[in-house]
Amino acid sequence: MGEGILTGDPAGIAPGFPRVEGALHCRTLALEGLAERFGTPLYVYDAQGIEARVRHFRETFSGVEFLLAYSVKANGNLAVLNRIGAAGAGADIVSGGELHRALAAGIPGDRIVFAGVGKTEFEMEAALRAGVHAFHVESDGELARLEAVATRLGTPAPVAIRVNPDVESPTPHEYTRTGHAASKFGVPVSEAKELYRQADAASHLRVRGIGAHIGSQIVDVDPYTDALAVLLAMADELAADGVELEYLDLGGGFGVGYDGEPGLPLEELAAAVVPELSRRDLRLVLEPGRSVVGHAGVLLTRVHYVKRSGGKTFVITDGGMTELLRPSHYGGWHRIEPVQSPPGEGREVVPVDVVGPVCETGDFLARGRPLPLPRPGELLAVGTAGAYGFAMASNYNSRLRPAEVLVEDGRALLVRRRETLDELVRGEEIPPRTD
Ligand code: LLP
Repeated sequence: MGEGILTGDPAGIAPGFPRVEGALHCRTLALEGLAERFGTPLYVYDAQGIEARVRHFRETFSGVEFLLAYSVKANGNLAVLNRIGAAGAGADIVSGGELHRALAAGIPGDRIVFAGVGKTEFEMEAALRAGVHAFHVESDGELARLEAVATRLGTPAPVAIRVNPDVESPTPHEYTRTGHAASKFGVPVSEAKELYRQADAASHLRVRGIGAHIGSQIVDVDPYTDALAVLLAMADELAADGVELEYLDLGGGFGVGYDGEPGLPLEELAAAVVPELSRRDLRLVLEPGRSVVGHAGVLLTRVHYVKRSGGKTFVITDGGMTELLRPSHYGGWHRIEPVQSPPGEGREVVPVDVVGPVCETGDFLARGRPLPLPRPGELLAVGTAGAYGFAMASNYNSRLRPAEVLVEDGRALLVRRRETLDELVRGEEIPPRTD
């Protein structure tokens, strides 16, 4: 990936976030300055890094006709989506809300694939009107509903079946494994052929492709080649029966190195995938989310208090599980560094729990983490927070969701302002008492 920043590297916290004269920057802008200007907690994204990742994907898979359908769920900020779209990518969506975002950001409908196990009629109709590339169908019930909606609108629906290839995908947490038979995702191989037969025979369905998504934060190529083999065998069988597919979608899930280690080797994946697809004249679709935006975001959070209790040191920050849920929900590990001085420089390094202000014991960003003992008021950066950071933020404890800033061409652009108290209660009503 050409990242060049390793564990404890005094050079910076992630690619695009270097340390210049001791202080962390996003490209040329000091993070401390951004925190002072926009307040904390604050997400900061590096536009150049995001665009570079899209280009890297497109170059790596240039041996086949390729659609990068960026997975909107990882980071759906409109400005982020807009830049990703402008770099030539499309979108992988899982809801009408994500469809709305992708279209509002200028991503053309024909570059959008619609996945998800619970699509509603309303969502299907909106996606059909938007002219999506395909619906990735996950059950027989869904196929029947899609056919009914398409028939009612008189608009044929492009279809791919999301197959469950039943492969082991070693992800760091069981919640992010989706490619095994016992998961709710996809259609078993044994049933997929029958769905293709039905789709092929239906007047308002058009068979276009086949897909799978086996999990998230996978760093080995093997599970992908296993899934590929299952999808290709199905495509070959269908071709023999006269059902010609246009594309194969291997999903997303490509892992990144949260501690500077290499992520999934995309070149190795391309070497396995490209020749197989070219030979069959199949186009390739991939749905990366994390590996496009993960490294390109940091969360800035300020230390409120430092307190000792039960033999532990708690660093209480203004950001926690409501801003970045990954540590609490998946045991996710993120680098945390003081913004103004490199870790370990002249200060005692002690194991600390970095915790948020939320009233939950599970509200933490790190536990037992060796850090130069932070001081109240100090700014900390949480690295590789561009994916599943703001996207999973919540208003729990009636907290206001943070602001998001995009750094582009040396400028800091506020791409989502901090929520307000009025927004917090918007839509709620106090009904008059009837007595
Ligand atoms: N395609 C489908 C159908 C998916 O369900 C997902 C992710 C992706 C693509 C993109 O996966 P990625 O390339 O970002 O790994 N919140 C979790 C990750 C959940 C992933 C859900 N599906 C986390 O923070 O680790």
